[in-house]
Amino acid sequence: MRIDIISAVPESMESMLNSSIIYNAKNKGLIEIFLHNLHDYALDKFRHIDDAPFGGAAGMLLKCQPIFDCIEKLKSQRNYDEIIFVTPDAPVLTQSDCNKISLLNNIIILCGHYKGIDQRIRNTLITLELSIGDYVLTGGEIPALVIVDSVVRLIPEAIGDSESALDDSLMDGLLESPQYTRPSNYKGYAVPEILLSGNHKEIAKWRNEQSLIKTKNIRPDLLNE
Ligand code: ADE
Repeated sequence: MRIDIISAVPESMESMLNSSIIYNAKNKGLIEIFLHNLHDYALDKFRHIDDAPFGGAAGMLLKCQPIFDCIEKLKSQRNYDEIIFVTPDAPVLTQSDCNKISLLNNIIILCGHYKGIDQRIRNTLITLELSIGDYVLTGGEIPALVIVDSVVRLIPEAIGDSESALDDSLMDGLLESPQYTRPSNYKGYAVPEILLSGNHKEIAKWRNEQSLIKTKNIRPDLLNE
């Protein structure tokens, strides 16, 4: 999978992209990630990429030309399955979106900055818009990293025990059941007896029940979807 990320501040993402599972996935040849600095596509000597909104409003907007030039250049080099814009005024990212994106070959993620981007970019170039939640961040870089992280760990062989991604909270629309490790009794706090029983059928049943109880208590909205 190839991921191209377009940003006004691409350097802000470097340390996350060069650590842990994402770094290992790159080294194993499972993913390629390319960062593109929007300022490199500016035409004036001050490398302006934004301008004031027509009609008057607070803040600056990322303008068409640098983004069109960058995306059109990338599109002339290969086909993209999705060109994603991360923005708070979009449907909220779900595990199901991450699963679908992890099956794609080439994607672009465009990060917004300032007050947003010219609507004509959204109307013509963008194929998918996603928010990471109902709050507003200063830019799209953290949301882009959220998408990359949640997608990369789904690529087979990206994480050591490929089973564990399948068991995740939300993978089947429910929150994960409680987990315990040794010792079985810590300062008098005991692990549920069933987990020590060795009866895998009963353990699976217990885990399902616990998932359901936890989801009902913490995220009842998930059960109505
Ligand atoms: N940019 C700013 N806030 C955002 C959010 N919540 N989701 C996606 N992109 C954003």
